[in-house]
Amino acid sequence: MSTKLSKSDYEKIDLSLTSDKEGIVLMEAPGRINLIGEHIDYNGGNVLPAAIDKCIYYTLKKNDSATISNVLSKNFSEGFSFDITIPEKPGDGWLSYLSGVLSEIDKIAPGKVTGFDCVLDSKLPIGSGISSSAALLCGFAKGLNELFELNIDDITIIKLCQNAERIFSGANVGVMDQFAVVKGKKDHFILLDCETLEYSTIPAAMGTNMLLLLNTNVSHNLADSAYNERRAQCESALEIISAKYPQVKTLVEATEEMVEEFKEELGVDRVKRAMHVIQEQKRVEATVEALKNNDFTLVGELLNASHDGLQNLYEVSCPELDFLAAYAKNDDRVLGARMMGGGFGGCTINLIDEKHVESFVTDASKAYKEACNLDLTAIPVKTNNGVSKIN
Ligand code: GLA
Repeated sequence: MSTKLSKSDYEKIDLSLTSDKEGIVLMEAPGRINLIGEHIDYNGGNVLPAAIDKCIYYTLKKNDSATISNVLSKNFSEGFSFDITIPEKPGDGWLSYLSGVLSEIDKIAPGKVTGFDCVLDSKLPIGSGISSSAALLCGFAKGLNELFELNIDDITIIKLCQNAERIFSGANVGVMDQFAVVKGKKDHFILLDCETLEYSTIPAAMGTNMLLLLNTNVSHNLADSAYNERRAQCESALEIISAKYPQVKTLVEATEEMVEEFKEELGVDRVKRAMHVIQEQKRVEATVEALKNNDFTLVGELLNASHDGLQNLYEVSCPELDFLAAYAKNDDRVLGARMMGGGFGGCTINLIDEKHVESFVTDASKAYKEACNLDLTAIPVKTNNGVSKIN
């Protein structure tokens, strides 16, 4: 049970206004991009995400209470006072996500967190596929870890935040977002094996090219139910294939021939889902090679092919994303583009030479307005370190 803070109350807990910095923990929690490997994490494969230079900022301090805490979101101009031992209900807005983290931490470090004040300020657009929710959860968890010296290791933080997100968003998400947000490394992509959580870092220098996100500014509410449905389809496809091929432990280990063999039993939808997963996994490997060889034309082609798979086989795109991906594909200034993240809205990720960004954004914005009657938001991104303490 929480109570909403009045404007005068929340000015009192706005830690950013106090000059006394004693006991204050400042954290920066980045969003993430995913260069390639979409809807692969929960299928046990390798993905290629990175943390980005757009962040949520946290200011935290212990207060004198045993359990009463105050949180304030500068973006929503909204604050709450609540008892950390009484969990919020899932679906009750941003506070319920934070409450989810507190419940998960309490399972690992019972009774170690006491009352605190917390102010958060987000520079991440919500619902745009750059994981503002993973940043929210991981930044908060790592902030509490610092403030109360809980000594919880990163992998445990990643998993507890993934769990909180599952419970509080209703989508049975994989581990990619939380991993990238926590383990990101400036100037690098993270090549993550989502089955073992082993990872390596791949240099992200791409000559004069850069990554540009184009936000459709739509987020269709189909996303959570369709996400869970895709995941279930993949799990049942795996069950059918591994009954005959027990060496196939995850769907990315199946082959296109195996899918063909079980075509009748799988039915059209599961065949398409499995084909995307198998082909997308190959594209991740090819992208890593292409990056090593500085072959950015090939990286661009792989991005375009990834979008095709997500649009036509995995069917998690939407008209606005398809418009932007097709527009970029037909424009010589862009090396390649695809939808990014769960789908049904959010951003496309575009690989483009720096010198073309301005003119391309102008033209794409005009075309998008004409075609979809919506404004486009261009977000140039650089890779970044994962959640960090900044004081
Ligand atoms: C969302 C989920 C991730 C991942 C992507 C799709 O961002 O949170 O775990 O499954 O969708 O690649």
